[in-house]
Amino acid sequence: MSEVIKRLNAEHRNIAKLLDLLEAELAIFHTGEQPDFELMLDVMDYLTHYPDTFHHPKEDLVFGRLRQLDGSSHHIVEKLLKEHESLAREGIEFRNALRGMVNDEALMLRDTLEHLGTHYAEALRSHLYTEEVQVFPLALEVLKPSDWKEIDERINQRDDPLFGAAVAVEFQDLFKEILRLEAEDRRQDATADTA
Ligand SMILES: [Fe+2]
Ligand SMILES: [Fe+2]
Repeated sequence: MSEVIKRLNAEHRNIAKLLDLLEAELAIFHTGEQPDFELMLDVMDYLTHYPDTFHHPKEDLVFGRLRQLDGSSHHIVEKLLKEHESLAREGIEFRNALRGMVNDEALMLRDTLEHLGTHYAEALRSHLYTEEVQVFPLALEVLKPSDWKEIDERINQRDDPLFGAAVAVEFQDLFKEILRLEAEDRRQDATADTA
């Protein structure tokens, strides 16, 4: 499999972990309880910084080449490219709303905040799914080794500040939470295996 697609899939798995976390907090919010707004803000800070400025531009190169080589992919590619823009826009809107909440300057209604978060999480999940199920497999079929090589050369690798070799200071708390949840999952799997 192309290294580019392998990296994109690995990044999807990381984004999905953050969506799990975000949705768990949104579920708490929905019950009327106080979720961990700071954690939600960390998730959105990461999603609006790294995936929006690095993951999606990488996909733009793959999808652009796919569309050149296979005209029938035009509609689905167009949809995904537009979603990269709308997700970035909506992500920033939700992040700013959370920032206001954390800084106690939010005048936003709980319902509005919940709606922004739920809509964003659903849109991003469905976006990842369409890419994984429809478009990555098609790109793997259509693009040639020379296309992948060219895309790989055009991608400027940037260290992932959360899932990369070193965790940036601003994402340390979020990283610890991810590790904690992973350890919990492993414990639950082990209990299920011995049950
Ligand atoms: Fe995408
Ligand atoms: Fe993606």
